[in-house]
Amino acid sequence: MVNTKRQRAGKLPTVRRAGSAPLLIVLDRRTHVPLQRQVYSAIRQAILDGRLSPGTRLPASRTLADDLDVSRTTVVLAYESLLGEGYITSRGSAGSFVASVRVDPSKPRVTRTARTVRDASVEAATQRAVALASAAGGMPNVRPAAVPFRTGEPALDLFPARLWARLYARRARRSTGALLGYGSEAGHRPLRSAIAAYVSAARGVRATPDQVILVRGTQQGVHLATRVLLAADDVAWVEDPGYGAARTLLGTTGASIAPIPVDAEGIVVAEGIRRAPHARVAHVSASHHFPLGHTMSLARRLALLEWAGKAGTWVLEDDYDSEFRYVGAPIPSLQGLDTHERVIYLGTFSKTMFPALRLGYLIVPGAMVDVFRATQVLGDRIAPSLEHATLAEFIEDGHFTRHVRRMRGVYTERQDALLRAIRRELDGVADASPTGTGMHLVAWLRDRAIDAARVSRLAYEAGIEAAPVSMYTVKAALPPGLLLGFAAVRPADMGPALRRLRQIITDVG
Ligand SMILES: Cc1ncc(COP(=O)(O)O)c(C=O)c1O
Repeated sequence: MVNTKRQRAGKLPTVRRAGSAPLLIVLDRRTHVPLQRQVYSAIRQAILDGRLSPGTRLPASRTLADDLDVSRTTVVLAYESLLGEGYITSRGSAGSFVASVRVDPSKPRVTRTARTVRDASVEAATQRAVALASAAGGMPNVRPAAVPFRTGEPALDLFPARLWARLYARRARRSTGALLGYGSEAGHRPLRSAIAAYVSAARGVRATPDQVILVRGTQQGVHLATRVLLAADDVAWVEDPGYGAARTLLGTTGASIAPIPVDAEGIVVAEGIRRAPHARVAHVSASHHFPLGHTMSLARRLALLEWAGKAGTWVLEDDYDSEFRYVGAPIPSLQGLDTHERVIYLGTFSKTMFPALRLGYLIVPGAMVDVFRATQVLGDRIAPSLEHATLAEFIEDGHFTRHVRRMRGVYTERQDALLRAIRRELDGVADASPTGTGMHLVAWLRDRAIDAARVSRLAYEAGIEAAPVSMYTVKAALPPGLLLGFAAVRPADMGPALRRLRQIITDVG
């Protein structure tokens, strides 16, 4: 198994570390895992474990290639992956160095969370937890009050809070032991039935109540799917650009992330197959690409499903906001087209109801129900049953459909208002096209050389949230753009906020 030149000569292939024990890289040439992936994984794991500390210089690619008896390209590719994901940095001719570990390269900020964890040197925390904290620290800051133009947040002031409170209070008053106890491990049956009926009718998903796994939002859904489906040496496709929170999570088992380009038809499946033909998981936002807003074409959907069927890949369909469809008929889910039972559908009530509800669901193929359920119960019980029961009633009595329909009308108006305001206030500075689905659009900046991330940082300080598109990219090179959410912004507040934004863009440009 271990058959490098050095090992044959009685020497260990090592990554040298000043003043400490050498790090052994063991290659297994019998597996189908490519050598560059093995080199990458070994170094990545050593960084995550703390065996290679920040600032450590890695050997020159030629030296390591020699040590390991592999081609230099193998090492160069491994280093490129590590570089792309932010594990190492390159200082030109001085070489490659271990970076301060962060899992997600698109989130360059190390926030207080990450620093605090490190400063306290958290004896008890594993290196992996520290790396995770770093990645989480790079996620967008969320301020308690909605500010223009936060993406992904619905119009919370228009949620029928009194109605919800009344239903909830009635449930709580009348609840029996069953609702106040641990409940069944599958979760509240009426809610699972209501969700199965809803996704079948509204999203074209094929689902029985038994296939519904209740979770605390998409985030926990991806976490659960990651734990069930991905092992350390697996590969996961993610859209590039794409949803960073999912990308970070998928990488936490040690699986490597293959960023796959996206065009106007959605994820470029042929390119994905070329780059990572044996990926175990593919995360896609087919109905409404996040963040660019495209809808995956039928041809791409069929190609993705066909490949997934042949390769044994699990497709995670993140259907986070397609209830808000403004033009044409709703776009049926990918899951409904799947004849190979490879799609895990992820739905959330964060947009249709409110994010703090923390309620989402997975629709998993019948054969996967038991393993998903068992893993879910390990990480959390199925409660909160009172919320589940209230939501079931909210859906069954038609309040949910009514609320979504009403919000669709409100968001249509808000999007129109935002487009008008952009034309008025950002004339000559940025352009935006209407989106057919969802709660945000992208304003593309005319000045191709401008630093959109800097605009975004300054805007944040000025009370405006406008995430740069670059925040969601891994390798994709896109023009500078800013995400502008419209759902939670009153039209009257749009003009003044855009005027401030225009000033910032002009100052930075
Ligand atoms: C792509 C994507 N998926 C899912 C979600 C919803 O996440 P959750 O259900 O965990 O609130 C969001 C929220 O912004 C999102 O942008």
